[in-house]
Formats: sequence, C-alpha cells, structure tokens
Amino acid sequence: MAPPKLHMLFCLSSCLVLVHPLERQAVTPVTHTQSAWIPGIQSLLPTESFHHTVIPKGSGPYSVGCTDLMSGYTNQSTFLRLYYPSQDEDFPEALWIPNKEYFLGISKVLGSPSILGKVLSALYGSKTVPAKWNSPLRTGEKYPLIIFSHGLGAFRTIYSAIGIELASHGFIVAAVEHRDESAAATYYFQDETAAESGNKSWLYFKSAHVYSEMLRKEQVQQRAEECSQALTLLLNLDEGKPVENVLDLQFDLQQLKGSLDRNKTAIIGHSFGGATVIQVLSEDKRFRCGIALDPWMFPLGEEVHSKICQPLFFINSEYFQSDDDIAKLKKFYQPHKERKMIAVRGSLHHNFVDFTFAPGNLVGQWLSLKGKIDSKVAMDIFNRASLAFLQKYLGLDKNFDQWNSLMEGDDENLILEDRFDVVTLSTTLQSSTETEKGNLR
Ligand SMILES: *[C@@H]1O[C@H](CO)[C@@H](O)[C@H](O)[C@H]1NC(C)=O
Ligand SMILES: *[C@@H]1O[C@H](CO)[C@@H](O)[C@H](O)[C@H]1NC(C)=O
Ligand SMILES: *[C@@H]1O[C@H](CO)[C@@H](O)[C@H](O)[C@H]1NC(C)=O
Repeated sequence: MAPPKLHMLFCLSSCLVLVHPLERQAVTPVTHTQSAWIPGIQSLLPTESFHHTVIPKGSGPYSVGCTDLMSGYTNQSTFLRLYYPSQDEDFPEALWIPNKEYFLGISKVLGSPSILGKVLSALYGSKTVPAKWNSPLRTGEKYPLIIFSHGLGAFRTIYSAIGIELASHGFIVAAVEHRDESAAATYYFQDETAAESGNKSWLYFKSAHVYSEMLRKEQVQQRAEECSQALTLLLNLDEGKPVENVLDLQFDLQQLKGSLDRNKTAIIGHSFGGATVIQVLSEDKRFRCGIALDPWMFPLGEEVHSKICQPLFFINSEYFQSDDDIAKLKKFYQPHKERKMIAVRGSLHHNFVDFTFAPGNLVGQWLSLKGKIDSKVAMDIFNRASLAFLQKYLGLDKNFDQWNSLMEGDDENLILEDRFDVVTLSTTLQSSTETEKGNLR
C-alpha cells in the first residue's frame, strides 16, 4: 500500500515548511492553529511501520470496547465515540481514523494540497487501536461517565490513548466530535433518507485567524452545549429511553440501560477542549468535576473564574502555558474551591494526543511531537494523576489513590517550579487565610 517514494518526499517537504513547533500558547498565533496533532501526522510520514499499532493497550483490569454513536440528524445531532469496559470476547480492533475525509481535513488544517490527505489515508486508513469494535458491554457493574472534548483541528478518535486507558479502569468514556467547525472534519446526515443511503454531509475545519475572538467565543459556547447534550443522551440511554443510532452499527444501545453510576460524571478535554471543560463546568452542574489538559485560555470570558464550584484539575505540559496563562489559571483558586495543578517535566502540548506514539524519537522531537520525556511515561502520568483525581472527587471505591502523589505534584517527573506553587494552595486556603497573600504572591 505504500505510495511511491516520490510522493512521500513531495509531501514531506511540502508540509515540513509548515511546521512551527509550538512552545507557548500566546507567542505565535499561527502555530496554535496547528494544534496538538499536526506535527504528529507529519512525523508519521517517514516511518516504516505503517500497520503496527502504537497506541498502548489499557493497563487496567477491564477489556475495552469501542463504538460510534450518532443521535439525530443535521449538524445539531450528537456524535461521539464510546470507549467502555467490554466482555472479553474476540472482536476485531476499532479503526483509528475511520474515514478518508478526516485525512483530507488534516490537509486542510495544514493548508497543504489534498494529495497529502490521500497519502496519509493510504498509509494510515486501516490502522487500528487496541479496543474491540462493537464488542458487548461488560455487565454487572455501574460505571462512572466521562465526556471528553478534543482540541482545535482534531476530532473524536485521536485521543484513544486516554479513552482506552480510562475505560480499562472501569469508566465509560464518550469522546464528542464537535460541529463548531473546529474539528479537522466531521459529518452528519441531513435526514433519514440521507442516513439510509449513507449520504454523509461533511463539515470541514474553518480556516480563520487563531485569535478571532468572536469566533472562538461562539465555538467554545457551542462546544459546551454539545458536551451537555452528550451527557443528556447517555443519561437517557441509562434510563432505557429509546435512542436510535443513525450509524446503524452492531452494538445494541439497549445494553447501556442501567450501566451508569449516574451521579459520577466528569468532563475532560485538551487545549480548546480544556477551555471547553471550563466553560461546561461553569454552566452544567451535573458535571461533578473536570480535568483541563493544557487548556487554551483565550476563548474564555472573565466571568468563568467565579462560576465554577466543582473541583478542577489542570494538567499541563512543561512549555505550553506562559506566565500570563498561569496567572489566569490561578484566578480559579478561590477559598473553599478544590483546585489542583501539575506540569509534567519535559512534556509538550502534543504529548496528550495519540500522535505522540508515532515511532521514531528523532523526528518526533525535531517536530515537537515528543517531548524530552518518553511519550508512554508522560501519558501514564497524565492518566494516573487523572484517575487519582477522579477517585477523590467522584468518590470512587478503587485503588487509584495509589497515584495521589502525582495529583499533588510530588514526583520527580513533575515540576516544582516557583510559578507552579499553587499546587498546594487549595489546602492552604482552607486551613488558614493569613498566609493567603504569601501563597498567591
Ligand atoms: C448548521 O445548520 C444550520 C441550520 O441548517 C445552519 O444555519 C448553520 O449554518 C449550520 N452550521 C454549520 C457550521 O454548518
Ligand atoms: C446527498 O445529500 C445532499 C445534501 O443533503 C444532497 O444535496 C444530495 O442530492 C444527496 N445526494 C444523493 C445521491 O442523494
Ligand atoms: C451526588 O453526589 C453528591 C456529592 O457526593 C451528593 O451530595 C449528592 O447527594 C449525590 N446525589 C445523588 C442523587 O446521589
């Protein structure tokens, strides 16, 4: 399936000129458009092991299943990928990037010729992730629920390393695909006839200045609504209300009846999705806590700082957040509110996305896809710190508290830099108000 070498070289050289490794969120606007995964896809080009799955298997005790769910028609429908604890049966693995249009979307985000999309599609269109496609849900337990929100120019399927890991520890994870034109590509069906004949309407990434204030504010609002809508959908399924999957897959949605621990719902998101986490928490109190992975703060209004009463955890890479951004994050630290913040040493903004597992360290580091820290080590820290936080604030009865030290910033891979000393602030604020000023600096 490998295309002629000439094409590879053409694509590689034409997209390499577009690479601007992103260090911090406010420095160069252009670089931020090329969100988390883009240098990643570029670094995939020169690799040899096309068909070798690189996404780690879930390390938890549950087998992991995966399905897609689209409920309703038009661009108002809810679209998500579900990772869930599954029965341990033999099912094929789920496709990682399941339609060629997503690759075309990637080339659009990059501003590259569509031939790049075709090449990528030929190389990676049949690649799978370690989750069993449409395998039956594991029964006999009620699972906590996580809604996941992707970054700018990404889409629902490329955070599988996080989704699979959390599902393997007993969560149902619903990775939403946003219809606000911030996804590289997404699709919907205009009506029932279109769905029956498989006539998809594709909606591509809207190219605009990264710091378009109006657009980004509208988008984060729509994203938040889509997350709330996804939560309502899952809660309806749990109640046994009839929901039709217009994708007509082999996974029977009736299985989800009575599957959720309804009061244990959290939201997680990366970059623009991290901003979405903050927006959602300020509006929808059904979400009991949230984890913002390297949140992009630009789209958010000032008013959100005081509107979030739920516990909130910032997990950052080492370099993405500028001092100004950290100051914005600190505004969420208020008396009697649970806040935590850690930063993983040697990690980059791209370390949260599946592309960080592309083979080839040299190219990966050169393109800022991989940080100095091993990608698997970084991903383990993100996921374990998240699990410890979820156990504590959802009140789970698991053994994730073994990773409490990560959540508290106490690990050699975490930064104890001065600007991150807010890590201990929430407890300090509660025990004493006199020292508050000193800690806030
Ligand atoms: C979604 O559909 C509505 C109604 O058809 C339309 O007005 C709107 O422009 C669409 N949004 C996008 C992003 O296509
Ligand atoms: C597919 O859907 C589009 C938009 O709804 C419509 O314009 C087009 O005619 C449809 N194509 C077919 C083959 O039905
Ligand atoms: C949900 O959990 C919260 C916090 O533990 C608790 O205050 C509330 O009563 C619970 N609600 C239900 C319906 O169990």
